[in-house]
Amino acid sequence: TGMFTYDPGFTSTASCESGLTYIDGDAGVLLHRGYPIDQLAEQSSFMEVAYLLLNHELPSKAELEKFTYTISRHTMLHEQLATFYRGFRRDAHPMAIMCGVVGALSAFYHDSTDISDPHQRMVASHRLIAKMPTIAAMAYKYSIGQPFLYPDNSLSYTGNFLRMTFGVPAEAYEVDPVIESAMDKIFILHADHEQNASTSTVRLAGSSGANPFACIAAGIACLWGPAHGGANEAALNMLREIGRPERIPEYIARAKDKNDPFRLMGFGHRVYKNFDPRAKVLSKAATEVLDKLGISDPVLDTARELEQIALKDDYFAEKKLYPNVDFYSGVILSAIGFPTTMFTVLFALARTVGWVAQWNEMISDPDQKIGRPRQLYTGPTQRDYVAVDKR
Ligand code: CMC
Repeated sequence: TGMFTYDPGFTSTASCESGLTYIDGDAGVLLHRGYPIDQLAEQSSFMEVAYLLLNHELPSKAELEKFTYTISRHTMLHEQLATFYRGFRRDAHPMAIMCGVVGALSAFYHDSTDISDPHQRMVASHRLIAKMPTIAAMAYKYSIGQPFLYPDNSLSYTGNFLRMTFGVPAEAYEVDPVIESAMDKIFILHADHEQNASTSTVRLAGSSGANPFACIAAGIACLWGPAHGGANEAALNMLREIGRPERIPEYIARAKDKNDPFRLMGFGHRVYKNFDPRAKVLSKAATEVLDKLGISDPVLDTARELEQIALKDDYFAEKKLYPNVDFYSGVILSAIGFPTTMFTVLFALARTVGWVAQWNEMISDPDQKIGRPRQLYTGPTQRDYVAVDKR
């Protein structure tokens, strides 16, 4: 082509420099600021990982307390937003509500956001991280017709989210530590994943200097698709549809059939050509959580059997397709009590941390430019306009 490198889907284009997340897709390695994801998932907390991604280093005890307190100060939504929810149909997909409500926040924090000021950027980032659980819980409450619950800042970030989601004003809500820790782990595992489609979307939107709340709404829109964050919902729906282990070969055959658009949801990844390290953590956690909650779900047996059969199959081996983060997360989320339509919302809640950290990194980069890809033009060559009565 001479002038441009043609790289559809950006499979070999580095769009930026970043110090947040390292992935070695062949080895199945994922590090946040150098720390392996399995160590963070098993030993850290979501607030700590959020701090790490935003501020480069793990916090001291005092820094973590201050950060957690700061986030808790921003958990409430402007009261006017309750009215905004009421404009949606009750059966609206909660991801549609998320796009709308987060985008609408830009109207509430329009003038205060001078993005050239690092302090303002940090305040916007804290607001987003703090408000996402409230926004997500309200989307859920709206869909089932229950009253919205205000945040309770005496609870942990994750405990507060669980209460706003599953609590009701009429009763005290006890946060179950098993559920709280499983949920926190899922949040950690989804916090960041370098330049994936939604993060690239946030960066591209932000590169024009747009309002950060609007940029995150763009990220949510991109995340919604079944090839990206929507895969967790699609994966659990698929596992439920398969229903029994005997039906697995039929679905494997369909996934391999070139003439059938069906894909095994929760399998394959653009970057990992080996086990997704997040799937490894979740596979283990799925058994632990279901055992601790005393739930036996045939979907987990179907998932395990499907994984075994696929991994032994030449098609999946040759194409290096392994379970990804979305394969086991749905089993856990469903055991906690979330409907499938909320799965991608939880992904968005957690990924907000990565989005704002990446957005901050981009804006503070002196080499930052507006993102502006070129194209290979395939349309007609120049020709003269013809009046409508002569066509
Ligand atoms: N089932 C069956 N075949 C598959 C699958 C699958 N899940 N994934 C990829 N393939 C095949 C695909 O048909 C293609 O075959 P061929 O070379 O013969 O045309 C080959 O493997 C390469 O696939 P691709 O679509 O060119 O690869 P990609 O890097 O563009 O796509 C992907 C990556 C994740 C979109 C894809 O693997 C997929 O659609 N997986 C199912 C959806 C899913 O689980 N997404 C979650 C991704 S991880 C979390 C997140 O990002 O949100």
